[in-house]
Amino acid sequence: MPTITELRVNGNKVPLNTDAERSLLEVLREDLDLTGTKYGCGAGDCSACTVLVDGTPTRSCITSVGSVASKEITTIEALAKNGTLHPVQEAFLKENAFQCGYCIPGMIMGLVGLLDKKPVPTDAEILSRMDRHLCRCCGYPSIVKAIRRAAAQARS
Ligand code: FES
Ligand code: FES
Repeated sequence: MPTITELRVNGNKVPLNTDAERSLLEVLREDLDLTGTKYGCGAGDCSACTVLVDGTPTRSCITSVGSVASKEITTIEALAKNGTLHPVQEAFLKENAFQCGYCIPGMIMGLVGLLDKKPVPTDAEILSRMDRHLCRCCGYPSIVKAIRRAAAQARS
């Protein structure tokens, strides 16, 4: 059984000794205690488990840890710097875009990934990126406001 011995997560090289076929989500949550990344559907349908892999939003539940062993993984835990929230986190807070909050880390990582690559996204690009994210609480009105706020900040 192939194993991996190291993962690059949030700027650190983390030693591991685990089955390369395990999901990235399982390793992040259960081995590395990075529980900000959420388990929603476990089947690639909701995007609650989104992290950045070399800067690209990626559903970690359907990504084997072996396939990303040489890549840089960024989770929600790495967004705030020196006690200051990332602007996208701030936008969600300002718009009070939370009910249970379970979908929000994945939404934030998806939006951060988009804005990092495309600081001035079109509405169509925002929609195309964010329509992969499901909110079981149907908190979409405030989530859309937060996305608009974050995109407007990026544009300015
Ligand atoms: S938990 Fe990964 S897509 Fe739903
Ligand atoms: S706020 Fe509850 S799932 Fe989105």
